[in-house]
Amino acid sequence: MTILKKSLIAVLLFCNVCANAQSEKQIIVQTQHVSLVFTIGKNDRVYQSYFGKRLLNTADYAQLNGTSHEAYITGGMEDQFEPAIKVTHADGNPSLELKYVNTTSSHTGDDITETVINLKDPKYPVEVALHYQAFDKEDVIKAWTEIKHDEKTPLLLTNYASAMLHFDAKKYWLTHYHGDWATEMKMEEDELTTGNKIIDSKLGTRADMYEAPLFMLALNKQADETSGEVIAGSLAWTGNFQFQFEMDEHNSLRVISGINPVASEYHLDAGKTFTTPAFIFTYSNEGKGQASRNLHKWARSYGIVDGTKPRMTLLNNWENTGFKFDENELVALFDDATKLGVDLFLLDDGWFANKYPRNNDKAGLGDWEENNAKLPHKIEYLVKQAEAKGIKFGIWLEPEMVNPKSELYEKHPDWILKLPNRDENYQRNQLVLDLANPKVQDYVYSIVDNMMTNNPGIAYIKWDCNRTMSNTYSPYLKDKQSQVYVDYTLGLYRVLDKVRAKYPHLLMMLCSGGGGRTEYGALKYFTEFWPSDNTDPLERVFIQWGYSNFFPSITISAHVTQWSKQASIKYRTDVAMMGRLGYDINVKKMTDAEVQFSKQAIKNYNRLNDVIWYGDLYRLISPYEEDRAVLMYVNETKSKAVLFNYFLNVRYKAQFNTVKLQGLDPKKNYKVEETNMMDGIKSNFNDSGKVYSGDYLMTVGLNLASGRILPQTSNVIEITQQ
Ligand code: DGJ
Repeated sequence: MTILKKSLIAVLLFCNVCANAQSEKQIIVQTQHVSLVFTIGKNDRVYQSYFGKRLLNTADYAQLNGTSHEAYITGGMEDQFEPAIKVTHADGNPSLELKYVNTTSSHTGDDITETVINLKDPKYPVEVALHYQAFDKEDVIKAWTEIKHDEKTPLLLTNYASAMLHFDAKKYWLTHYHGDWATEMKMEEDELTTGNKIIDSKLGTRADMYEAPLFMLALNKQADETSGEVIAGSLAWTGNFQFQFEMDEHNSLRVISGINPVASEYHLDAGKTFTTPAFIFTYSNEGKGQASRNLHKWARSYGIVDGTKPRMTLLNNWENTGFKFDENELVALFDDATKLGVDLFLLDDGWFANKYPRNNDKAGLGDWEENNAKLPHKIEYLVKQAEAKGIKFGIWLEPEMVNPKSELYEKHPDWILKLPNRDENYQRNQLVLDLANPKVQDYVYSIVDNMMTNNPGIAYIKWDCNRTMSNTYSPYLKDKQSQVYVDYTLGLYRVLDKVRAKYPHLLMMLCSGGGGRTEYGALKYFTEFWPSDNTDPLERVFIQWGYSNFFPSITISAHVTQWSKQASIKYRTDVAMMGRLGYDINVKKMTDAEVQFSKQAIKNYNRLNDVIWYGDLYRLISPYEEDRAVLMYVNETKSKAVLFNYFLNVRYKAQFNTVKLQGLDPKKNYKVEETNMMDGIKSNFNDSGKVYSGDYLMTVGLNLASGRILPQTSNVIEITQQ
């Protein structure tokens, strides 16, 4: 069917709804289980009249009595709470009124319906289009806004939200995810009270270091994994974001999501369209678990690069060698990679720059040619050597940054973000390049393009970003400094668009000094992200649990390292196996038993990875509630599942109940078998090899804690339909 025909059908469907006498003024955005309904008031303004579980009968929406919450509130008029949009016109008038023009609806994919509500100001030539893409099977809605005008001089945008949502619940519980370097994604849940709660970032680059652009909002009562109404929201923006939760005196809540209005005034030229980033959200009335599964499904199909294709296991050298290595040592590490049986070797920081060699983090950033002392035969030689040993080769880049001690800094001082008349302010001895400048965008693109052109065998890039923005001033933007944070991010997207146009399937990790970039705006260009430099498995249980609320395991890079002085190789490996497994370890220092275990674990992972990467995640026991975490992944046909059980620092003789599994077919029989076992490490699971019905496993459960539990022990259990 042609796209045109599909669009026509969609318009007709939309009009069917319109044809109903009472509902002719309604616009319905819906997925399989969720609907978002708008009503056009007599005053021609558009109101949100419903958001929640999809009603069985479309005709019932006509009963909704909803013109109290304007869908996209404008600043400067009669509404005195926070607006979604606020502008100042060419004549200085600081107000906007938005009236309904029309709606278009079209199928933009088999599973996707896009509804566009067009609005305009009756007095000023300003138009706003509210876009809602509904992903039917995933129950996800992606919302964004387009703003354009035809005034004589630029329109000043001070607030320009991606979307606004309204709620009328008895109570609201907000979970947000905050932290710092090495303590990312700490979950905190609080009841909202009257007034404003803001979750935001003002860090520019490495924007999510303290706070990720992710939230869960439970309505009426606290949601748990399997019950309660919950909205999971995420802003796809690699820069400063803001979620604003404003509860008024009538207990109504408005949630405004978008680019942080702080330090972001934007001068929009006539005829140009400003497109906000997307706010991606889902609704579940079956708790947080379902909300996460919706987002995971959406992400694999639409949110990341090649989300339904395989990934590679790897050996990284950062934790092992740091900056100290040469090509002979690296080639010897390739042997370690093949010994373990991983697919790829990833060369990290420290391989570049000659005038100011990159032997520590004080110099060389920006000078992307091989260091002659370390790599006399260039990267080309390393790629060939890796290939000869049967593995692929990947490389680390930090293309957006510069050390003052570099040739790039000497040649292009005007390419750097820094305040005139002030001292330079460093983080990790480096500064940020001015990606608002198209010349700098070209340069940053050329770093990747040259690398790939000279070394087409490279199979993986780790893209790092190790500082936030401070003392920020763009030499390129001149008198439009308030746009620097926004134009930087748009500049970064221009670069990444070009990279992906030329290298559509290259594996790329999004990294930012640990987990400083963890959002779907950048992830649409990447295949995975680095969640945290903290790879102590005990910490990772919490960190990965947090990320699992929004990101599927295929996106979460998880490496076995030597961070922990206590944890066994088995515990470290079992924890890393719930993500994209890799190693960043000195293999030569491992015992024979550890190497043997790891080789077998990689084989096990390769056998189970399709369930872990593409399966449905059920979080069974939270590490925030007990001294253990239990999670399981179930494949689509419910024929195979993998369960991970991680004990934390448990007390002597701690008691643990049996664990009820989820997501299986009650009518099927399953064999449960422990895998990834290691000689000398006792298991607390005594029922390996037994067969149970899915009904039994989900109603009675498994005892995963027989006998005395030792701290930091774990099990991987394979559950196979018989
Ligand atoms: C920060 C990253 O998170 C690390 O994994 C490593 O790549 C270093 N940067 C290298 O400088």
